[in-house]
Amino acid sequence: MAVESIGPESEPSFSSAASSAPVSRDEFRRACGRFATGICIAATTDRGIDYAMTVSAFTSVSLDPLLVLVCVEKITRFHEAVLSSGAWTVSVLPDDAEDVSRWFAEKGRPTNAQFADYRHHPAEVTGMPVLDIATATLECRTRAVYDGGDHDIVLADVVGLWTDPRDRDPLLYVEGRYRRLAD
Ligand SMILES: Cc1cc2nc3c(=O)[nH]c(=O)nc-3n(C[C@H](O)[C@H](O)[C@H](O)COP(=O)(O)O)c2cc1C
Repeated sequence: MAVESIGPESEPSFSSAASSAPVSRDEFRRACGRFATGICIAATTDRGIDYAMTVSAFTSVSLDPLLVLVCVEKITRFHEAVLSSGAWTVSVLPDDAEDVSRWFAEKGRPTNAQFADYRHHPAEVTGMPVLDIATATLECRTRAVYDGGDHDIVLADVVGLWTDPRDRDPLLYVEGRYRRLAD
């Protein structure tokens, strides 16, 4: 396959099946990082303890039935908790909530006190925690868990919803950086 050469400084990262070099993690990250996502906080309560973590690997899946998924790294505390509890929430973050995203992705934050600085309340149907700052929240009950390498893909029925009537912009994440919408 012919690949246009545009010089070493701006050479495109290119891997094909014909290439003898395997795709590297860095290349994979760079390519996937071009896909902009929102940011949400996935949360659950297991045996009386609230767990939450920052998630970009969230997507809607199906309208009939209403299904969503999150990809959860198997080594996270949230992983064990969500598989055990079977119910969880998603709080979609607005663009002034970068600090929230950073906190819930920080390694070693205390499990028990991780919600201490962030106002939250129990969601209506499941009672699982949702953040007051969210622009939308979804309540989910796990339907299936699929192996996804170092992550599990947690597919769930949506059993509750709330959308902020105020028109607030979402927090974006692209190429490893937080961004805001600029129309
Ligand atoms: C912007 C961003 C997006 C993230 N998305 C995910 C994700 O989709 N799935 C995941 O398992 N971890 C994701 N993480 C990493 C977790 O938030 C992080 O490992 C967290 O600390 C895990 O919780 P724990 O410390 O309680 O184990 C993301 C981190 C950041 C900063």
